[in-house]
Amino acid sequence: MLRLAWVGIIASAALAIEPLAKYFTSKEDRQKFPLVVYKKPLAENSGWQNTAATRVWVKRDTLGVMAMVATCTHLGCEVNYHSDKKQWICPCHASIYDEEGRIISGPASQALHRVSVERQPDGSLIINTSKQVGMDMRV
Ligand code: FES
Repeated sequence: MLRLAWVGIIASAALAIEPLAKYFTSKEDRQKFPLVVYKKPLAENSGWQNTAATRVWVKRDTLGVMAMVATCTHLGCEVNYHSDKKQWICPCHASIYDEEGRIISGPASQALHRVSVERQPDGSLIINTSKQVGMDMRV
């Protein structure tokens, strides 16, 4: 009986540690430099495109280009985009965001952060991850 209790305690501890392990081993978003350059052309209605090696995603719709950071607003895990469901889902505590980053279900209580984008003359984008903007902002 005591052995069974220990198995339960160890299993509970492992479940508690798992989200922290995911957080510390997921792709790093704490960038040394807040600026991200995206050079690929973005077609209208492109859907979300990942900017390699960062949590920054860009998208172009009929109104313009926008950028979003795929960091869960609960405790900072990287959220994964599921294009089939058109949702962002956090692997740590299962917060779900819609296609635009708005909360569907918690524990997160805020939308994913949109950040500033500037179009350069050569067509590339410079995304400033330190400058948060509103959900409606496009360039
Ligand atoms: S970090 Fe907790 S739900 Fe995303």
